[in-house]
Parts: sequence; structure tokens; C-alpha cells
Amino acid sequence: MYLLIKGGTVVTATGAHPADVLVEGERIAGLFSPDSTPPVEGAQVVDASGKYVIPGAVDVHTHMQLPFGGTSASDTFETGTRAAAFGGTTTIVDFAVQRTGERIPDGLAAWHAKADGNCHIDYGFHMIIGGVDDESLKAMDSLVDAEGISSFKLFMAYPGVFYSDDGQILRAMQKARDNGSMIMMHAENGIAIDVLIGQALARGETDPINHGLTRPAELEAEATRRAISLAQVAGDTPLYIVHLSASQALEAVAAARDTGRNVFAETCPQYLYLTLEDQLGAPGFEGAKWVCSTPLRSKHEPHQRDLWRGLRTNDLAVVSTDHCPFCFREQKELGIGDFSKIPNGIGGVEHRVDLLYQGVVDGKLSLARWVETLATTPARMFGLYPRKGVLAPGSDADIVVYDPNGRTRISVDTHHMNMDHSAYEGYEIAGKVDAVISRGTVLVANNTFHGHKGHGRYLPRGLSTYLL
Ligand code: URP
Ligand code: ZN
Ligand code: ZN
Repeated sequence: MYLLIKGGTVVTATGAHPADVLVEGERIAGLFSPDSTPPVEGAQVVDASGKYVIPGAVDVHTHMQLPFGGTSASDTFETGTRAAAFGGTTTIVDFAVQRTGERIPDGLAAWHAKADGNCHIDYGFHMIIGGVDDESLKAMDSLVDAEGISSFKLFMAYPGVFYSDDGQILRAMQKARDNGSMIMMHAENGIAIDVLIGQALARGETDPINHGLTRPAELEAEATRRAISLAQVAGDTPLYIVHLSASQALEAVAAARDTGRNVFAETCPQYLYLTLEDQLGAPGFEGAKWVCSTPLRSKHEPHQRDLWRGLRTNDLAVVSTDHCPFCFREQKELGIGDFSKIPNGIGGVEHRVDLLYQGVVDGKLSLARWVETLATTPARMFGLYPRKGVLAPGSDADIVVYDPNGRTRISVDTHHMNMDHSAYEGYEIAGKVDAVISRGTVLVANNTFHGHKGHGRYLPRGLSTYLL
């Protein structure tokens, strides 16, 4: 069974050139300059004239069905991976959770049970370690060796929920150094933040904007610096800072990278486009839609300018979504009268490819860097390359045809995520996902979904190849 994607401009992390892409079964068979494409009898043809052909995007930060904040993230693996596919994402790496007091194998088994047979696109897991102790440290080894999980998220935030103290973090980092895995860090000083939250509530400051005001940029930067120091003390453990939002935190990452350290970071579209004042500070309780951690930052400070620059210079290596959707009704509303009870998270798994393409249109990012930060680096960073993240012979045929002349209007009325609002309501994007192919199967064409749940397979991951 052959599929030929014909007449497009292939964009990779190294540049753009006209090429036809031939798919045989689930894999890419070859790329051909248009005048040398061999005739393939009976091939299904996808016309990509005037369009870009890019590797399927890889979102390495999602939280499908995460129990959090007194409720659960509203996208299931089924609805969330379908929405992801609509937006050009063909692989996710979701966070399996060890809740405090739970054994890691039990937490992992629960995550497999949620995802197995329900996904429309391929998926892997990181593991959140909710309790660093002798048993969980040992389990880290078996996850790397036997389960294809080579990255572990720790939290310097959320005391009493996922929080690890510095001693626990150091021990987990030492373990990761020994088994070659990556530590992913939620870098915010949660102990200090909880003091600020208590003080704000005592003053009667209960609106959603106080979520941002009690999580100042300096407490993200302080935690980022501390994580970098702990990783150094552990023996230069590879460290990946998740959902980086503040200039000061970026500065700390850049300084570490300048000295050759294995320190990496991602940001997310919400930090590139949305702000504390315009979204979190929306009138009444509306701002709850944008409560996430790290929080949206002030438009009066140069965070967004610096994040775009960081993406260009590779101090920010990846853009992921931190997709953690909650409906406004009944979920975000849990925090009416107390911002600290608003479930933390924004949904956006469907919009990352489009939103970042806007950076290309605006001259903030090159086409090659668009692909690199969405697909190639995430795949390399988390042990999925060259199976994912690249258009090359032998790679999985995960391919997106992207129409630079199309337009996308983001709205709750048209999105496919299981949310009753959109964080980007009314945004008009130049560019549009035209067709989405996962392992040789056309999932999306002409705005119509042709996939089926269960097509997506679990991806055991290797160690990061970004370091070697
Ligand atoms: O607000 C967020 N980011 N919710 C999801 C959990 C996390 O910290 O990534
Ligand atoms: Zn986090
Ligand atoms: Zn997250």
C-alpha cells in the first residue's frame, strides 16, 4: 500500500525544498525531487501543491484525564488525541502519575489502562514522581530498562500534592544521572508561593488574577536556579525545565547552557501570546479560564519578547502545550471566591502548530525552527528519534500537509477538545493544517476525521539522543 504526497515543499529542521514523499505501509519509503519521483502503481495521492509538508508534530507535555485540583482534566485520551490530530500533532508524551503514597508500578498501570485502545495517535509516557523514596528510586531504573520511560517529572511547587523537597530532588537526580534518564522540573518555589497565597486570601483578594500575583517571576527564577544547582551537584544530570514563562528563569537556563551544562527548557504557546493583565485579569471570574502554573506573565515586562528570542537561540529548545483542560462550568468554578481552588491548567493540544506558525508569519521564527521546536527536537530530546520528528526513509510516516495560504479561526465552536471554552477564542491565524497522516493512515483531510481510536500505539522510548 503506497501513499504519495506530491508537489509540496518539504520543511525539515534544516530547511525547505520541493520534494515528493513516498510512503509504503507505515513508513516513509523515500523523498524524491519532483522530476525524479518513480511511478508507483495504485498509490493513493495527496496533493500538496503550494503547501508545506512537515513531520507530524510531537507534543511532549500533555495531561489527559489528570486528576488534579479536586477534579480531572476534561480530555480523555480519546478526545484529546483526536483534537491533537486535528491540529497536526501525531505523537504525544503524557505524564503518568505516581500519586503521593502510591507505588510507581500501580500509577503506571493506571495510566496504561486509561490510554490503551483509546488513542488516535501514538503516545508515550513520562512519569511524575509524587514521592521520592527508596522504592520509587529503584522503580526509576526499571521504568528506564523495561517500560520505555526515560524521563521523570518532579515538582518544586504544589506542597502536599506532588511537591518534592531539595533532598528528594537531589536523590532522584543522582538516580537519573546513573541510569541516563532526564529530570523534568516544575520550577516554582511552592513553599513561598503558599505563604503569598495565604496572605492574599487573608486580605480578601480572591479573584483569579491573584493566582498570577502570588506566583511572581522571581519565584520561578529562584526555583530554576536551584534546580540547575542541584543537577550540577548530582553530577550534571540532564535537566529539562517545563513550562518556562519568565525572562528571569530563561536567563538562568541560558547562563547554564553557556557553560556547557545539560540544561534544557520548553515554553508553551500560552506564554508566547497570553498575559496576566489581558487574560488572567479579565473581569469577574472570567480569568479562571487562564489559571495555569507557571502563570501567565505581565505584558508590562519583556517576558514574551525574551521567550521568542530564546526559541530562536535554542535556549528554549521545545514548544509543548502543557495541555491540561478544565471546563469553565463546574470545574474552573470550583474556585469562585478562592482563586487557589481553581484547577490549574489550560487546554491547547489542538493549536500549537498553528499558533507557532504565527511566529513564522510575524518574522519571529524561521520555517526550519518551527519544525525543529515542534517535532524534531522533542523527538530527539525524549528518545523517539528518528522514528518520530523527521521525514526520512525508514521513519514512521507521520506527516502534516500545512497550507500557508489557509486561515484558522480558533473558537470553542469549532475546536475538538473537550472544553466549554477556548483559551484563544477568536484568534485568527494565517495558515491551516490541511492533512494529517499517522503511520501511513490519513487521519484528517478536508476538515474531516478519518481515524479511529486504537490506531495510536504506546511508544516505549529510549534515552535522549539530544545529548550525544
Ligand atoms: O497548570 C498546569 N500547568 N497544570 C498542569 C500540571 C503541571 O504543573 O504541569
Ligand atoms: Zn508543571
Ligand atoms: Zn504540565
